[in-house]
Amino acid sequence: MYVKELEVINFRNYSNLKIEFAKGLNILVGENAQGKTNVLEALNYLGALKSHRGNKDKEIIKWGKNKAYIRANGSRNIGDFTLEFLLSLESKKEIKLNGIKINKTSEVFGTVNSVIFSPEDLRLLKDGPDVRRRFIDNELNQLKPKYHHYLNQYNKVIQERNNLLKQRVNNTLIDIYDEQLSEFGSFIILNRIEFIKKLSIISKLLHRKITNGKEEISIQYKTDVKDVSLKDIKEKLYRLYKENIAEDIKKGYTSKGPHRDDLIIFINGVDAKSYASQGQQRTAALSLKLSEIEIIKGETGEYPILLLDDVMSELDLIRQKYLLDSLKDIQTFLTITSLNDIEKFNFDKKRVFEVYNGTINVKEI
Ligand SMILES: Nc1ncnc2c1ncn2[C@@H]1O[C@H](COP(=O)(O)OP(=O)(O)OP(=O)(O)O)[C@@H](O)[C@H]1O
Ligand SMILES: [Mg+2]
Repeated sequence: MYVKELEVINFRNYSNLKIEFAKGLNILVGENAQGKTNVLEALNYLGALKSHRGNKDKEIIKWGKNKAYIRANGSRNIGDFTLEFLLSLESKKEIKLNGIKINKTSEVFGTVNSVIFSPEDLRLLKDGPDVRRRFIDNELNQLKPKYHHYLNQYNKVIQERNNLLKQRVNNTLIDIYDEQLSEFGSFIILNRIEFIKKLSIISKLLHRKITNGKEEISIQYKTDVKDVSLKDIKEKLYRLYKENIAEDIKKGYTSKGPHRDDLIIFINGVDAKSYASQGQQRTAALSLKLSEIEIIKGETGEYPILLLDDVMSELDLIRQKYLLDSLKDIQTFLTITSLNDIEKFNFDKKRVFEVYNGTINVKEI
């Protein structure tokens, strides 16, 4: 799949921007703070339906304005699409797919699949469990619309349950919450199990390639409940919430469940979080991100768009080359601060955009 054209109005530091992209490699070059990441953020919004920087919709509206607009059109195997978002300070966002208003966000997931790789992702192994959960969830949201819905519901109920726990309440409402949590939670866990299984196989192959056979990566899903069927996970999860209620009341929050899940990543048999060097952790992060792309290809039959924000300078030459070599059939958006950074690589087809203070000029085609 690819995005042909992007238009944004009052989005971050852009008042009005309309650009046409190449099917292959798109390079955004510009000094710091000119608007490169903002373009990637708009592109990623099409797939993730939110900012990858963790910002609320309101924060991406241009300062001093009330509304922001994003429109993109592009092409997938099943046909062309136009996706529009109207973000507002006062009201809920409006979404249109092919000119038709969409009321449920989950219906537009999967129109665009995107994978973003930014410097923060290089810390995927080092940072807290929430970062790794987000990595899994972002992927599953795009692939399984129901997942997004269940995850949202789960998080809402957890908040409600925690509110009661803080008041040291253990009543029938808690029981209703536990029922709901096991229902939503079992769906989340089962999907995560399946995803991590695929991730584990693909990343093993990729990691071997990237490291020239020197390193072996293996990934384990750390969760409180593991089983093969939805029904069994649900039952065990329900029991788990019940068993921990005294502890939960003492702590004032729900201490067990899929909201505490993590990935444990081993490199050559040892826990990478504690023992891997910075370079090894970055390479592993690269393997995981590239695996994400392959999983999307496997599930949808098409590669997602790939957004590479400032990652070239963070990788050594061998990794940079490997990364660029693996992008042949993938529409890629790459940000750099100077064209010198990529002089050493040969690209057949590319389009270069000069980004300067919220404006963009095509440099060469
Ligand atoms: N809501 C907003 N309204 C207006 N301007 C904003 C808004 N949010 C961020 N900006 C501005 O957008 C500018 C460009 O940001 P961006 O992150 O895209 O820069 P960049 O080109 O990626 O820079 P770097 O090379 O440092 O990563 C920032 O200077 C910031 O002040
Ligand atoms: Mg940037």
